[in-house]
Amino acid sequence: MAKESVAIIKDKLNVNRVIDVLNKALAEEWLAFYQYWIGAAVMKGAMRGDIQREFEQHALEEFGHAKLLVDRIIQLEGTPLLHPQRWFEYTECAYEEPDNDFEITRLLLQNTASERCAIRRYQGIAAMTDGKDFTTCDLAKKILADEQAHEQELQDFLDDVRMLYRETSLYE
Ligand SMILES: [Fe+2]
Ligand SMILES: [Fe+2]
Ligand SMILES: [Fe+2]
Repeated sequence: MAKESVAIIKDKLNVNRVIDVLNKALAEEWLAFYQYWIGAAVMKGAMRGDIQREFEQHALEEFGHAKLLVDRIIQLEGTPLLHPQRWFEYTECAYEEPDNDFEITRLLLQNTASERCAIRRYQGIAAMTDGKDFTTCDLAKKILADEQAHEQELQDFLDDVRMLYRETSLYE
């Protein structure tokens, strides 16, 4: 129970709405974690080792985001989602199941789409809480910066793999 944490913001914004949107983000983080984690395991294609390591690293970072969100939900006297079934009820980002024979560029594109959804999510939470709930706003801005770095890294890998495919085809 963190009564003062709630008291200082409840005149400025609807705390239940904040908790609800944090639970949506929590669902999305778990799905992002699994999408990266399982993608790293099944991927095939150029630069596999490097991209696998990046996916595994991002999985851990999404897991860390989930923990930050749960801690904030509890501070706001909310209840974090307690059952994985609820992840699909709450998420507004699509879960991108690895497809197309697990080819690496396809997985990079799928995870880029998920990162873009995460960027919109944290931009939204930051805007909603700006000037009203400093702690949640700071949290959203911190995670937003991580998701933007993730998007950039995936785009860079996509460029590199495409360049490699182009070079390889020159010698065939
Ligand atoms: Fe995340
Ligand atoms: Fe991410
Ligand atoms: Fe990264």
